[in-house]
Amino acid sequence: MFNKRIKIKELLAQEPAGQEVTVMGWVRTFRNNQFIALNDGSTNNNIQVVVELGKFNDELLKRITTSASLKITGTVVPSLGQGQKMDLKAVTIEVLGDSDAEKYPLQPKKHSLEFLREKAHLRFRTNTFGSVFRVRHALAFAIHKFFNEKGFVYMHTPIITASDAEGAGEMFRVTTLPVDGTAPKNEDGSVNFKEDFFGRSTNLTVSGQLEGELGATAFGDIYTFGPTFRAENSNTTRHLAEFWMIEPEMAFYDLEDNMNLAEEFIKYIIRYAMDNNREDLEFLAQRLAEEEKQLPQDKRSEMGLIEKLEFVLNNNFERLTYTDAIDILKESNHNKKKKFQYEITGWGMDLQSEHERYLVEKHFKKPVILYNYPAAIKAFYMRQNEDGKTVAAMDILAPGIGEIVGGSQREERQDKLETRMKEMHIPLEELWWYLDTRRFGTVPHAGFGLGFERMVQFVTGMTNIRDVIAFPRTPGSAEF
Ligand code: 4AD
Ligand code: MG
Repeated sequence: MFNKRIKIKELLAQEPAGQEVTVMGWVRTFRNNQFIALNDGSTNNNIQVVVELGKFNDELLKRITTSASLKITGTVVPSLGQGQKMDLKAVTIEVLGDSDAEKYPLQPKKHSLEFLREKAHLRFRTNTFGSVFRVRHALAFAIHKFFNEKGFVYMHTPIITASDAEGAGEMFRVTTLPVDGTAPKNEDGSVNFKEDFFGRSTNLTVSGQLEGELGATAFGDIYTFGPTFRAENSNTTRHLAEFWMIEPEMAFYDLEDNMNLAEEFIKYIIRYAMDNNREDLEFLAQRLAEEEKQLPQDKRSEMGLIEKLEFVLNNNFERLTYTDAIDILKESNHNKKKKFQYEITGWGMDLQSEHERYLVEKHFKKPVILYNYPAAIKAFYMRQNEDGKTVAAMDILAPGIGEIVGGSQREERQDKLETRMKEMHIPLEELWWYLDTRRFGTVPHAGFGLGFERMVQFVTGMTNIRDVIAFPRTPGSAEF
């Protein structure tokens, strides 16, 4: 058997008592031909391997370079040096993979996040990305744990669809037809998708919600957790063309039930990371504090990362209607001094991220749930309120991020839904299967979508969404 190793995280939790262990990992540094800092990705903490002078030949020692991979067996002894409780005294060292130090793109020094984005295939080997992606994993695990404990069914909705769930027309087309102009044409010159693989025009999904509703109206409670795709040309620190979304959908829920679940859910997964990834979060808090030292005083966060997460756990989210939010924005000094880039034109306007962030960061100083939005700025499936102009929508806004969740109670009344779809030019005949849920045992139901990367940003304090997904897909960029 080759792999009989102990992970470094586990080893560091032991007491040094002369036990013999085998570790495997990648060299971070090798000092004075004597001290190897070895990392295996289980933690940012390295094990210090002590190489006794004269015990190993020079040929071998020369191959211990940054990022070379090693298998080391040795004995665990109390460290004589400072900063670590144990050393691993090497008995055997095997180089599993050499690494040419001249060519290895990462130096044992601080690199900028921008630089590391260009080296996304290797950035996991840095402390920052080690922490970010371990936290990302923990959050993903906590999400499944949360819903499993509540008896939700995890549903895999399709990636390739023929519908536009959000009706926003920001889809990537999926086709096997040639793109060189030789695709079969209809008489009017348009491409004949009957000749395409699926016999129709298809695209990558923007949301699993519509299929999720089919599940909810059978299982009661379901959730999806998968990749979604949006061809919106937004080059911001919060938008990806490929992002992961969690979409729970619950039968017998109204808007308030929906808000309660969303708040409980967000708190649950934050708590999970706080309880299980403390070391990584502390590292990220430190990193963020250092990054913010570069900023002018008024741009710095009022709270450190850990403090912010504790605060979110210990306080209720502020809930207010869209209408009240518009009033607050209109009356704000910020508005009166004309400091918003986008003017507050009044009721009916779509909120820009600067408005959302003002409410969250300056006015309430905590997460906010806005609800009952004007129907005109929301999707066709949202439940129409009695006032005839708003829908039972809700968005959760988080400090430093803005919108993190979007959801609603769904329009379960067939006639009202169909009328709305016609008004919004949503093709009813293509969504016959969706409308069937309203025909056969329709029920009040609700759901929401949490943008996973935005959630990871919130918990890790990373300012750019490109730094919380392994291989970001953004306008003009699909490397790796
Ligand atoms: O608000 P959205 O568009 O809502 C939906 O897709 C609904 N079908 C959800 C539902 O009710 N089941 O997207 C939901 C969330 C947003 O709040 C945001 O966090 C994230 O998905 N999101 C993005 N994240 C990264 N990049 C993008 N381009 C995103 N677009 C939306
Ligand atoms: Mg939204």
